[in-house]
Amino acid sequence: MKALITGASSGIGRDIARELSKRGYDLIISARREDRLLALREEIKTDVRIITADLSGREECMRLYEEARGEDIDILVNNAGYGVFGAFDETELAQEISMLDVNIFSVHILTKLFLKDFIKKNSGYILNVASSAGFMPGPLFASYYASKAYVLRLTQGIREELKKAGRSVYIGALCPGPVNTEFNDTAGVQFGMHGLSPEYVAEYTVKKMFSGKTVIVPGAVMKVTRFFAKLLPDSVVAKMAYGIQKGKQGK
Ligand SMILES: NC(=O)c1ccc[n+]([C@@H]2O[C@H](COP(=O)([O-])OP(=O)(O)OC[C@H]3O[C@@H](n4cnc5c(N)ncnc54)[C@H](OP(=O)(O)O)[C@@H]3O)[C@@H](O)[C@H]2O)c1
Repeated sequence: MKALITGASSGIGRDIARELSKRGYDLIISARREDRLLALREEIKTDVRIITADLSGREECMRLYEEARGEDIDILVNNAGYGVFGAFDETELAQEISMLDVNIFSVHILTKLFLKDFIKKNSGYILNVASSAGFMPGPLFASYYASKAYVLRLTQGIREELKKAGRSVYIGALCPGPVNTEFNDTAGVQFGMHGLSPEYVAEYTVKKMFSGKTVIVPGAVMKVTRFFAKLLPDSVVAKMAYGIQKGKQGK
């Protein structure tokens, strides 16, 4: 049993790696920071292979697939991602495009390549880490929110195709609200609300993935938020989201 986890050097990805190892999975862990991956390998009891990759490059995504494909992967966790915060007319284009490459295109590429292999053997799990940001418009974090909507909708669409084709392949999206990781430091913001621990999110997520849940939302607060985001008009949700994001500035 083997799992490939991207963005395993920190936060949610690192704890999903720990959780899957506890369940007996050997791991392939990927990220840019090799020292972090080596430290994770030291503490893990099952077999761990490290493949460093910068997933903002499409050829790096292809290389990761080529290096991992021969290993009979059972689970792919597309977790690598980050946010670029700020008003859309002020954020840097190059920085945002790089984010979109990681958040959208690496997920798209790896999902497609591994899905084909999983369909051939009629088994496998793909967990795409989206966000509760994918449920709504995100002023002041607009392209990050939109990137997560892409991941969520892509995943839901594929899920239905798999169901209709009667495949025994799982695909699902993890949609957490705030989680206490390095996400905020990278984005240069602080949460206005209490974040969940990555350990809790990982444990909950892996349990839900194995139970076949398509959209995984850890924590009661985000479940309620999702419920209201569905009921209220987008214009109202956008206003509320603006208020929340505005509160993060300057902290
Ligand atoms: N924390 C939250 O509140 C929250 C909420 C909802 C969704 N999420 C999502 O959860 C996922 C994990 O984030 P996190 O909260 O755990 O943040 P984190 O602690 O900052 O971890 C992000 C991971 O992504 C990797 N990564 C970033 N850019 C990369 C690149 N160009 N190539 C390869 N790997 C890259 C990082 O590894 P290296 O830097 O070593 O490459 C790191 O392992 C992201 O997709 C994020 O959008 C987070």
